[in-house]
Amino acid sequence: MKKSICITGGAGFIGSHLVRLFVNKYPEYRIVNLDKLTYAGNLENLKDLEDKPNFEFVKGDIVDGDFIIELFKKYQFDGVIHLAAESHVDRSIANPNEFIYTNIVGTTNLLNAAKLIWKDNAEGKRFYHVSTDEVYGSLGETGYFTESTPYDPKSPYSASKASSDHLVRAYGHTFGLPYVISNCSNNYGPYQFPEKLLPLFIHNIKNNKALPVYGKGENVRDWLWVEDHAAAIDLIYHEGRNAETYNIGGNNEWTNIDLIRLLCKIMNKKLGREEGSSEKLITFVKDRAGHDLRYAIDSSKLQKELGWMPSLQFEEGLERTIDWYLENEDWLKNVTSGDYLKYYEEQYEKR
Ligand code: NAD
Ligand code: DAU
Repeated sequence: MKKSICITGGAGFIGSHLVRLFVNKYPEYRIVNLDKLTYAGNLENLKDLEDKPNFEFVKGDIVDGDFIIELFKKYQFDGVIHLAAESHVDRSIANPNEFIYTNIVGTTNLLNAAKLIWKDNAEGKRFYHVSTDEVYGSLGETGYFTESTPYDPKSPYSASKASSDHLVRAYGHTFGLPYVISNCSNNYGPYQFPEKLLPLFIHNIKNNKALPVYGKGENVRDWLWVEDHAAAIDLIYHEGRNAETYNIGGNNEWTNIDLIRLLCKIMNKKLGREEGSSEKLITFVKDRAGHDLRYAIDSSKLQKELGWMPSLQFEEGLERTIDWYLENEDWLKNVTSGDYLKYYEEQYEKR
């Protein structure tokens, strides 16, 4: 094997797309997917890779520092691509502590292990930290986040991610750990846990359930096809400059309400429903506490330096996404049983 790479959080949404890309594209790499399999991690997301000789799954918690050190000793990783995180803003508002443990303590444990294992020879090694545009805070109606926008996180989730970004840079600066960071906008596509806007609303439209729009639906997000994010990570991992940050975005801004109306329109057609029928499910509910108004990414650095571009038009990506959720009912059923139902009640009944 030419390289041994640890991908954390590979059983989650973005991680599963990245693991698939790396396992198939780089048969000469050993890809180890380290994942705790929380509610958001699902091995079904990686079923097609089970028999690949260059793929291994390790169940484990990044908060357990001793376990992480042993893992790094065993596999002698050349690279780490770190995606494992608590990732849902609403959950961070309901219960911030898990976000502190996993996103901050867990990241620090990985940094400590990489520092220990690479101390004598960091040549050719790389710690890639996958982060979010939410660390920059919220924009008004104009402007974009660039790599030099000051950090101004506003939710416990984004504060925990900002903290982990700072720690990665601090380990680079203080200990010479080779690293790279990327900050990406909202991803969409198959295998996203249906607590997030698009899979949740697809699920609810299909089942004729209310579509709980926070506030007035005026908040703006920039949407990127998940495989384009994975392609950007691949490029940055291999060709990005050491100790640099790259912003990744779709240049594709939508207010929530416009996006939801478009979703309803497409789904009416797919489900053979009357025009305007799914729109009747739209229900304005109590806003998310501290709800960031707008995110928008300037990804020109990544485009100019490494030649990355989003590959897919949004309407095509949205159609593919809807088709995938409609065709993968079993997946949806499996992940929306048990704990999910309790979460849904707690999250939405009180609004
Ligand atoms: P996700 O919630 O779908 O998956 C997270 C994965 O991490 C799950 O498989 C889970 O089991 C695992 N995990 C959680 N805690 C763990 C722990 N303590 N130890 C080991 N594994 C653990 O998340 P996602 O949406 O795929 O996001 C992946 C990464 O990308 C996160 O770091 C997130 O901050 C970042 N990000 C996400 C988006 C987005 O739109 N989803 C955008 C930009 C950046
Ligand atoms: O910007 C990148 C971030 O995008 C990632 O770092 C996060 O991990 C990811 O979850 C996502 O965060 P958001 O909070 O933007 O995504 P979410 O899908 O939760 O919400 C998208 C928008 O839709 C947001 O403005 C809140 C709104 N919303 C969401 C839900 C779940 C609703 O109006 N109703 C809902 O029920």
